[in-house]
Amino acid sequence: MIHCLIIDEMHESIIPMLERISVKADYRPEISRAEILNIIGNYEGLIIRSKTSVDKELLSRAVKLKFIARAGAGMDQIDVEETEKKNILLFNAPEGNRDALAEHCIGMMLNLLNKICISDMQVKKGMWDREGNRGYELKGKTVGLIGYGFMGRAVAEKLKSFGCRVIAYDKYLKKFSYEYVEEVSLEEIFEETDILSLHIPLNEETRRMINEDYFNRFKKNIWLINTARGEILPLDALNKVLKSGKLRGAALDVLENEKLKDLNVQERKNFDELAASEKVLLTPHVGGWSFESYVRINEILVSKIKAANVF
Ligand code: 3PG
Repeated sequence: MIHCLIIDEMHESIIPMLERISVKADYRPEISRAEILNIIGNYEGLIIRSKTSVDKELLSRAVKLKFIARAGAGMDQIDVEETEKKNILLFNAPEGNRDALAEHCIGMMLNLLNKICISDMQVKKGMWDREGNRGYELKGKTVGLIGYGFMGRAVAEKLKSFGCRVIAYDKYLKKFSYEYVEEVSLEEIFEETDILSLHIPLNEETRRMINEDYFNRFKKNIWLINTARGEILPLDALNKVLKSGKLRGAALDVLENEKLKDLNVQERKNFDELAASEKVLLTPHVGGWSFESYVRINEILVSKIKAANVF
């Protein structure tokens, strides 16, 4: 029997699933970072979402740790280099939430192009503006994906039936064209995209990458969907391109700073400007967050831990 510490909220099915592969879990979603640092030395396994950064400090105390399992996709809270030095195995579960993410992403596209949220609010207030709420179709548009991992691929597959062209650029992946998607250069993304959807991880290369210059390289005025990470897209830049018209609309499931109660003065100003725009649709980082994915993430993680044979 090996021991594993769970420091974030997860679906309750994780405990019996782990027991079946001889892992005894301590489920401590309320645990503070200070407590984690105190007790992590006792565990062979750590299961996390995004509550705390798994950095050099934490890893230096994790003397018995054999694996870290991320209940979700993003690994941006983990010092991957340091885990490699310490031979700690890393698992994540994008296979568990890619379908939820892709459905949410396409829901946001349809909503943005058809002004569903805006017209809903208007009708509830007694307004009946049909012309002002005329929509655009996905059919015939070119959807440009930046990043073609699990999430990008799931979005491309689900877009198939909408009659749009799906093109994708991934700096680290080549030769992935197939029936749902056309691999293109970044230049072609800038040249041809109508709707841009971001599916890249957060790291030092992508932080604040989608800035004003980036938007201005697009030939057309575009719509934007961000279901990846907020830190890749600074809100000051976003507000500028919304104002200039380069961006026709933006749907964001993630924000630069998602702790809305703790924004500094500048962040508050940027957020308020964004939230006041009728061209903007916001959801609270729920893209991969379905009832189904809550359980599926556990199944994927447990099967990966089992297959790695860390015992
Ligand atoms: C992910 O990376 O899987 C999603 O963004 C969800 O992240 P969370 O588990 O930190 O809520």
